[in-house]
Amino acid sequence: MNQTHSEVLPSEVSSSNMNKYEQSVAQFSWDEIERHFTWYETGKVNMAYEAIDRHVAEGRGEKTALLYSDASRDEAISFAQLKEQSDKFGNILRKYGIGKGERVFIFMPRSPELYVSLLGILKVGAVVGPLFEAFMETAVKDRLEDSGAVALVTTPALLSRVKRDELPELKHIFVVGENTPEDEGIIDFFSAMEGASSDLEIEWLDREDGLIMHYTSGSTGRPKGVYHVQNAMIQHYYTGKVVLDLREDDIYWCTADPGWVTGTSYGIFAPWLNGATNVIRGGRFSPQDWYGTLAKYKVTIWYSAPTAFRMLMGAGSDLISQYDLSNLRHVLSVGEPLNPEVVRWGYKAYKQRIHDTWWMTETGAQLICNYPSMAIKPGSMGRPLPGITAAILDDQGREVAPYTMGNLAIKTTWPSMMRQVWNNPAKYEEYFRIPGWYVSGDSAYMDEEGYFWFQGRIDDVINSSGERIGPFEVESKLVEHPAVAEAGVIGKPDVTRGEIIKAFISLREGYEPTQELKDEIYRFVKEGLSAHAAPREIEFKDKLPKTRSGKIMRRVLKAWELDLPTGDLSTIED
Ligand code: PRX
Repeated sequence: MNQTHSEVLPSEVSSSNMNKYEQSVAQFSWDEIERHFTWYETGKVNMAYEAIDRHVAEGRGEKTALLYSDASRDEAISFAQLKEQSDKFGNILRKYGIGKGERVFIFMPRSPELYVSLLGILKVGAVVGPLFEAFMETAVKDRLEDSGAVALVTTPALLSRVKRDELPELKHIFVVGENTPEDEGIIDFFSAMEGASSDLEIEWLDREDGLIMHYTSGSTGRPKGVYHVQNAMIQHYYTGKVVLDLREDDIYWCTADPGWVTGTSYGIFAPWLNGATNVIRGGRFSPQDWYGTLAKYKVTIWYSAPTAFRMLMGAGSDLISQYDLSNLRHVLSVGEPLNPEVVRWGYKAYKQRIHDTWWMTETGAQLICNYPSMAIKPGSMGRPLPGITAAILDDQGREVAPYTMGNLAIKTTWPSMMRQVWNNPAKYEEYFRIPGWYVSGDSAYMDEEGYFWFQGRIDDVINSSGERIGPFEVESKLVEHPAVAEAGVIGKPDVTRGEIIKAFISLREGYEPTQELKDEIYRFVKEGLSAHAAPREIEFKDKLPKTRSGKIMRRVLKAWELDLPTGDLSTIED
């Protein structure tokens, strides 16, 4: 590969928060950023204090923290109100004996109560675990079981997906909504809140105490509980300032759900640590509603994902002219490769440069970015932030020449780095197989100006509409179906979604390979695991390619699918 990347969208040099750091990359120090936090004086910290209560203490309590809307609600909530509500929920948790270090999960669609609960959980020093509302029984159970969660916040509609009899450690379930069933261990959120005191002493923590857990997928084994600590706030605050470019009067909208790390690091922590007004929209995607949201709230900074931009591009430029998007000044993207075509379109259609950002659940915050003061090369994820060293390494850990593809790796360590994979130290160690480096699992190359270009995943992890899906979890669900003998799952390229899930299945004796059976298997995964994990394409095979040790060779399945050479088959069964 030896191409030049001459296409460039110029920078907006003079106006960004980044200048100070960028000009001093050499002298950059995290210490300087840390001084923002009170632990410099007290030695103690709590994310919920820094994100919410601090603004009240410093006289900004009346400022709007949260602008929430969905089909039936439309609310503006101030920092002072968020403080009061989360103090109340903290007191409720304490009453049930829930405190420091315990895992409390949230399983519900976006609503103000989700944010109140999350902050309340943090205030008592518990570790919060947000789950996608789309998860079905098995996905919910696996995560609650692995984490040993003692409590859960959910809604009446989702409660039936929580297998309480199989989760002995789960003692308390707070139910947000009307008609909460009366049952042991079930607590009606709204009545509890009515009676609760808003006088709460926050649990003061050390920087290395727990903050949040996000489950994410690898290529083998069950989802990994990626565990982050309070210290991550240094990087949430810093990237919020210099990459999101948040300032005093910004109205900021991150479209991600808190079930995904983007929806917490950048949907909660970064904006509120910087004191911004945060827009949260419930409900599903629609181009009209999204543009309507940008116009209604006069959004200035918008953080979204390639799949959404591609769908908006598909909805056409005419639609845009019906909305006043003139307040937008900064647009960002994350989660999957951002096509150069989308960047060019965004520049024309929104008169905005779409800034790609790269990071992972494990990294806790952005690492490689297009920040406002740099020129954008469409198709590149950008350059490492000041304070971050990234490189392309070969499998022996040697840096390779520009334009050579290899392992995208980050020099350890940085403030928001995960501190463990829950219950699984071996999995954690796998990321550090090259000494001194975090190996991301992505392949990429760097050009001679230090811009990084994403090429793909090295493992079998699938990225569908920005959702990271482990093939193993889907395969495990598939083989629970009575007709399925064996299953192998791959990502198949797709114009809108990036990839879709395709399953190759061999059937048990006595089952016919019909379309009805495909539909039934699709529904089985959708209803058992989640919609985004269900295979949109299924192909029946008499036999699947396996290694002699019995491992399904997804690489061969992928080669079949894409008409590529199958590569080394020396380990195949027969
Ligand atoms: O493969 C990369 C892709 O998403 C993976 C991380 O997924 P997840 O942990 O779910 O995302 C957390 C929030 C970022 C990466 O290993 N990815 C992420 N950002 C980009 C990307 N691929 C290409 N370009 C990006 N900007």
